[in-house]
Amino acid sequence: MRLLSTLALLSAALPATALAPVERRTLLKGAAAASTISAAPALAKGSAGGPSVKLCDGTQFPVVSFGLQVYDDEAAYKYTTLALECGYRNFFASVLAGNQKGFGKAVRASGIPRDELYICGSVLSNRARGEEAAFQSTGRGCDANFRDLNVGKLDMIMLDYPGPDAESIQGQWRGLEAMRKDGGVTSLAVSNFSPAQLDVVLKSGGGRPTVNQLPLGVGYKTKQNAELLRENKKRNVLVQAWSPLRVLNSGALSACAAVGKQYGKTPQQIALKWILAKGATYTCQTTSRQHFQEDIDVFDFELSAKDLAFLDGENLVL
Ligand SMILES: NC(=O)c1ccc[n+]([C@@H]2O[C@H](COP(=O)([O-])OP(=O)(O)OC[C@H]3O[C@@H](n4cnc5c(N)ncnc54)[C@H](OP(=O)(O)O)[C@@H]3O)[C@@H](O)[C@H]2O)c1
Repeated sequence: MRLLSTLALLSAALPATALAPVERRTLLKGAAAASTISAAPALAKGSAGGPSVKLCDGTQFPVVSFGLQVYDDEAAYKYTTLALECGYRNFFASVLAGNQKGFGKAVRASGIPRDELYICGSVLSNRARGEEAAFQSTGRGCDANFRDLNVGKLDMIMLDYPGPDAESIQGQWRGLEAMRKDGGVTSLAVSNFSPAQLDVVLKSGGGRPTVNQLPLGVGYKTKQNAELLRENKKRNVLVQAWSPLRVLNSGALSACAAVGKQYGKTPQQIALKWILAKGATYTCQTTSRQHFQEDIDVFDFELSAKDLAFLDGENLVL
């Protein structure tokens, strides 16, 4: 997949403070110790698209998101339409997926009022070095999102990756701030930011990052999951898990299947519910109507403390 291999390429350029690139081999090794993260935040009920949670800037964010993968505009149109039919209202239309125009077309054709949808675009400006270069590159990225999505003011714009050093990150953030000041977007967010990189943004004196999109889920190392959740929570930044299902290796899958039997849920629904129970949210994708429906149908049960501890990994045989 182009998006995933792009991730590997870009991670190689990250500074020492960045999150270590997520390696498949690491993922397959699985969990080590039980997580101690506190329970999920109080969720406000939404009419469509599932519940939402309040971000640190005071806005509401639907906890379930459809994150478009790499395919052409025609496929983006088809899967966005399907997701809308299945009740999705939160969308991550990454510039890396290369299909923002197809996504925007489906949104406009749906007839669903714009204010019932939550739309997040993204900017890839991590290769620019230096404050001013990163600012300019981010500004061009923001303009491109606004033009290609063509859905009016965005709800959120996300930096796909942090720049190579603190000055570059400050420039990236100034670029996002400029888009907000111009009225192009409401909330600002980041992805793949380490705690140290979040601190660069937090100390810059501007607005706060509301969301950090990160690799999180049953099947990632327990220690990694716990650390991401703890460090982001400490900074009042909501975690949105990317690839929450792709990470399911055979051990994690059978653990989720065993738990799922008790609740009448699929292994994937258990893996997604685990994320919500940890106080995080997720963006996932599928090409199937049934899977779209399953991935948003996770609000009629709660995982017991015992099942959560089991899924945290101490009993997983991976
Ligand atoms: N910020 C970043 O660096 C970053 C990196 C990677 C991804 N992302 C974002 O995260 C999104 C999701 O990540 P992803 O595409 O890697 O993976 P994912 O959503 O975790 O998993 C997708 C896979 O799971 C399957 N699936 C989905 N629902 C299922 C269900 N209910 N039962 C069984 N199988 C199911 C899908 O196959 P079927 O089509 O057969 O259902 C697909 O193969 C991406 O589209 C992208 O927007 C962001």
